[in-house]
Amino acid sequence: MKLVVCGIGSAYKYAMELIDDSCEIIAFINSYELTRGGGGQFNNKPLINISKLKDIEFDYILIASGNFESVKEELLRAGINESIICGYIFERENNPKIQEALKLPNEFVKRYLNLDLTQKIMPKWKAKNFQAVTMWHENTQEGFDFIRIQTLYLLSQQILSKNVNGAIAECGVFKGEFARIINRLFKDRQFYLFDTFEGFSPSDIKCEFGSTDFFNKGFKNTNANAVLESMPHKENCIIKQGYFPGTFDLDDEKFAFVSLDMDLYKPMKDALEIFYPRLSQGGYIMAHDYHNKVFSGTKEAIDEFSKEHNVTIIPIADLFGSVIIAK
Ligand SMILES: C[S@@+](CC[C@H](N)C(=O)[O-])C[C@H]1O[C@@H](n2cnc3c(N)ncnc32)[C@H](O)[C@@H]1O
Repeated sequence: MKLVVCGIGSAYKYAMELIDDSCEIIAFINSYELTRGGGGQFNNKPLINISKLKDIEFDYILIASGNFESVKEELLRAGINESIICGYIFERENNPKIQEALKLPNEFVKRYLNLDLTQKIMPKWKAKNFQAVTMWHENTQEGFDFIRIQTLYLLSQQILSKNVNGAIAECGVFKGEFARIINRLFKDRQFYLFDTFEGFSPSDIKCEFGSTDFFNKGFKNTNANAVLESMPHKENCIIKQGYFPGTFDLDDEKFAFVSLDMDLYKPMKDALEIFYPRLSQGGYIMAHDYHNKVFSGTKEAIDEFSKEHNVTIIPIADLFGSVIIAK
C-alpha cells in the first residue's frame, strides 16, 4: 500500500509504531502547511503540498495529526475521495464496548474515521487505544471526562512501568463505565469491584443530608452480573456486592491502584482508612468528586483523612475534581 502521510509531528511518530509493514510511505504533507508548504524532504521522502497530490501515484492518505478535522476538510476541498482518507484519533477504537465506556456516539466515531481502512493500515491500533488524545475540544463531549481518563492512563503507566505490585479496586462502580477502562489498562491484575449495585444506603444519605429524601433513587439502575459481563477482562474481576465497608474481606491484599467514587462522606472516609494502609509503595488512590458541589461529603472525608494521617493530596482538574493520593 502506497501512502501519503499528512503530519510530521508527534502524531506521525505515534502512527509509525502502529503501521502495517506492507505500507510504503511515498510522500509527506506537513499538516500545518497543507497548501502553502512543501519542498524538500522529510525522512528521506518528498515533502509536498496538497496541490501536488494529483501528480503522484498513491493508494491512501493517512492523517497523522491532531489537526485532523481541518486536514480532512482541506483534502476533500482538493478533490480527494473520502474513501481513501483514513486516520485515527488517539484513544478511539472500533469497539462498541469502548465507545460505550467513553460514551462515544457512533456518529462521532464515523465523523472522523474510515474505520476499516484505518485498521487495515494500522492493525496495531486496536491494542493501543489509550494513548494521548490531542483533540482537547472533545473533552467537552457530554459525559466524556478526558482529563479523568487521561490521568488514569498516566497513573497506570507509572504503576505498570515500575512494577508496583498489588491488586486493583474500585469502590463505587455503578454501571462500570470507569471500571471498564481501569480493567482494560490493568488487564493482568486482579480487580475488585465494590458496590451495593442498588444505590446509596439510606443511612449514609440520612447521615449526610439529614433526610432520606435525597438521592434515594440514584444509582439503582444497574446490575452486578451485567457489569461483570461488560468487563473486557472479566476473568480477573471479582464483584464485591453489598454495603461497603461490610464487603471488605481482603485484609492480606496489597493494592497498586484504587479508584474511590462513592460520593458520600461515610463510605469515602471508611475506604480511605481501609485502602491507604494497604496501598503498595508507588501505588495511587484516585478519589472522585473532591470538587463536587452536591456531594461535598467527599471533600470533607478526604480533607479529614489527609489531615489526620498527614497525607498529601494532589488535585486534578477533571469534571468533578478528583484527587490523587500517592504512596
Ligand atoms: C457515582 S457512582 C459510581 C460511578 C462510577 N465510578 C463511574 O465512574 O462510572 C457511585 C456509586 O457508589 C455506590 N455506593 C455508594 N455508597 C456505597 C456503599 N456504602 N457501599 C457500596 N456502594 C456504595 C453507589 O451504589 C453508586 O453505584
